[in-house]
Amino acid sequence: MSGYYCTTPIYYINGLPHIGHVFTTVLTDVIARFHRMLGDDVFFLTGTDEHGQKAEKAARELGIPPREMADRIAAPFQELWRRLNIANNDFIRTTESRHVEGVQEMFRRAQANGDIYLGDYEGWYCTFDEAFLTEGQLDDGKCPDCHRPVDRIKENSYFFRLSRYQEPLLEHYRQNPDAIVPRSRYNEVISFLESGLRDLSVSRLKLTWGISVPGDPTHVIYVWFDALVNYVTGIGFPGKPELFSRYWPANVHVIGKDILRFHTVYWPAFLLSAGLAVPKKFLVHGWWLKEEEKISKSRGNVVEPNQLIEKFGVDGVRYFLIREAPIESDSNYSFETILKRVNSDLANDLGNLVSRSLTMVQRYSEGIVPEPATDDPPPFRGSLENIVVSLPVSIEEFAFPRLLTAVWQCVNSINRYIVDQQPWNLAKDASQKKKLDTVLYNNCEALRCIAMLVAPVMPDSADRIWKQLGIPRAASAALIEDLQWGGLQPGTRIGDVEPVFPRIEEKEPEAPLQIAEAPKKENVTSHVSIDDFQKIGLKVGEIKSAEKIQGSKKLLKLSVDLGTEVRTVVAGIAEVYSLEELIGRQVIVVTNLKPTRLMGVESNGMVLAASVSGKPVLSAVISPVPNGTPVK
Ligand code: MSP
Repeated sequence: MSGYYCTTPIYYINGLPHIGHVFTTVLTDVIARFHRMLGDDVFFLTGTDEHGQKAEKAARELGIPPREMADRIAAPFQELWRRLNIANNDFIRTTESRHVEGVQEMFRRAQANGDIYLGDYEGWYCTFDEAFLTEGQLDDGKCPDCHRPVDRIKENSYFFRLSRYQEPLLEHYRQNPDAIVPRSRYNEVISFLESGLRDLSVSRLKLTWGISVPGDPTHVIYVWFDALVNYVTGIGFPGKPELFSRYWPANVHVIGKDILRFHTVYWPAFLLSAGLAVPKKFLVHGWWLKEEEKISKSRGNVVEPNQLIEKFGVDGVRYFLIREAPIESDSNYSFETILKRVNSDLANDLGNLVSRSLTMVQRYSEGIVPEPATDDPPPFRGSLENIVVSLPVSIEEFAFPRLLTAVWQCVNSINRYIVDQQPWNLAKDASQKKKLDTVLYNNCEALRCIAMLVAPVMPDSADRIWKQLGIPRAASAALIEDLQWGGLQPGTRIGDVEPVFPRIEEKEPEAPLQIAEAPKKENVTSHVSIDDFQKIGLKVGEIKSAEKIQGSKKLLKLSVDLGTEVRTVVAGIAEVYSLEELIGRQVIVVTNLKPTRLMGVESNGMVLAASVSGKPVLSAVISPVPNGTPVK
């Protein structure tokens, strides 16, 4: 078993996760899961990037300490990854002591190697990108990448001798042209390196929120030096050498195109300076766009992942993101595209195939997988076997949209096979029993393989398909050997047949899905004046505790922190939300409703929620705000 180490970037804590972050993480999860299927000993790391000026600024704007800001944002990231079935081995936060020690050790090693010197930095700084910029790099006086205003900095700073690494890096990449995927990004890095490297400022003087320079606490280590080191501290550098040597160097760092240089130039240089091996590969993906603009919190066009999951399910979202986004280009998000993918590929093609095939086993074979006649290979078997044979290459090339396209071609040919063979007619003629059994077996066996092939993308659905096929194991834990045709045992009693991919309704006007978009149709029966509206007290409150109310299926008793007081509020959300997921969540509360008793508990307010076919979806604020903030 060989070690396979893959990582996501660690996410900034200035805002809640959006669909762009979900993509990077799901993509890495799919890679990790495919490698587990290949039998590799996988370590998958993700986490949060909690230091730096950007985090400090965001916390200041909210009037809370940066550490509290980090806690408030790291939690929903972790919660979302759990919900999305992300199978990471660890989650690193850069404020943890294991990380702080590792960063200082890396800094010390660079110092010991003669790569750090004290000097004066004079130039520009973009807080949004946490990037030092020279006059020449500015675009019309603004940051060339994010086009935001930049700050002038003139301060004493520690520098890293990046210039020393220009030649070693060029040589490394020339010898390993596959180290950066896709090739267009590789070419970009090569020309950047060829244009020359300047030494890099790696400390900040007037910043407190960060890791101090060893031996000089007046300086804080530059946040990118700090953040990049997570890739080694997350696997035990320097305290756990055994774990570290099992997984380092990383097999792949998955990153977005916006953070290419930090990763492919700075990071290997820091590693070389510390005497460590450089990562084997960088997988650089494009952006998710909405109406041609990058999806980002600052542009206010984010697609909120939890709402998308409510509508399309975890696997619907995972499938859509992986199927629609080729690595080398940007992809466009739209409600219509995800709806179409989920309804046509999942509900119609695969979902119908599963229920159709299994219902026939129930009807024509008493719920038992029949014995096939060996001399009659189905027409799709060849293409299925081709997919399996080329699976390691598809994984190596991260060609997941291509792989899924090939799987769906198979799904379609199985559907055609059923139509051609007409099992319902074969069942009418006892002399055709052998043929009927073969058709039923072939269908079920193909489904078993297909479920396995899609398991890394849709682990839960794949497991459900196997369960319905009567297989007592989890498809998501199976190994590539299990993809051999014929693995399904004749005589297996199939499980209960239930829809795996329900069809999604086209419209749900009560719940606008994309928070930046206005609802298309307003549900207003009569108008109220602004004065009337202002009579309603609305505040942001944080749920501190939640408990069930005896005798009620729907009601929960919540303690909600409204900044100046903690109130008891009863809410009808027990059927949809678990107690744990509510704690720490900020919601919008109506604060001046007349108190009322519900199931014996006095409720002092009301939590606002959207009502989707009678089911509540809690209100929220996009970024954390101090408890008690009024909502107008
Ligand atoms: N904290 C740094 C990374 C440090 S890694 C040592 C950072 N954080 S981030 O939260 O801004 O971005 C994390 C990842 O999300 C990046 O790979 C970025 O490309 C990705 N995405 C953010 N918005 C995105 C889209 N709209 N589309 C696709 N991915 C995008 O950068």
